[in-house]
Amino acid sequence: PSVRCLGKERTLGMIKPDGVSGNYTEEIKRIIVDSGFSIVNERLTQLDKETASAFYEEHSSRSFFPDLVSYMTSGPVLAMVLEKRDAVSDWRGLIGPTDAQKAKISHPHSIRALCGKDSQRNCVHGSDSISSAEREIKFFFEDVVSDDIASQHDEL
Ligand code: TYD
Ligand code: MG
Repeated sequence: PSVRCLGKERTLGMIKPDGVSGNYTEEIKRIIVDSGFSIVNERLTQLDKETASAFYEEHSSRSFFPDLVSYMTSGPVLAMVLEKRDAVSDWRGLIGPTDAQKAKISHPHSIRALCGKDSQRNCVHGSDSISSAEREIKFFFEDVVSDDIASQHDEL
């Protein structure tokens, strides 16, 4: 199934380990819903080294990759399927720039400004394109990640 349907679009949002352990989940969900997204599905899961590396495989040659993988495996993450018109770009806009330090200055109302720390510990993820959204939704809700902490609440 396509992430675009009846004028609506789906994207993969994720609250990263620092967001979950810092108790930002409820506040972020409130921002999501207040911004017009529906949370169509969600899954709390602990990534292992292999799954975190596969999720970020496009960055595997970057110098920050080993640190990124250890950060992403440092605690549970909450993956969510978010739906609204223009979900992909609107969610990217809501989370703000990659570097949370810069977000605090240029996008003070963004989610990364709210709970991120720097360019690695930036608290949330968002798919960067329709094709990434398709891949990333599949990644969490069909394929790789099977070791649920909390179960899915409905089928896509
Ligand atoms: P990237 O896809 O560039 O950012 P975004 O999450 O905004 O799409 O990078 C993916 C993740 O890699 C980013 O969220 C955090 C990590 N990262 C670093 O740890 N250091 C860096 O210098 C960059 C650019 C990213
Ligand atoms: Mg990216």
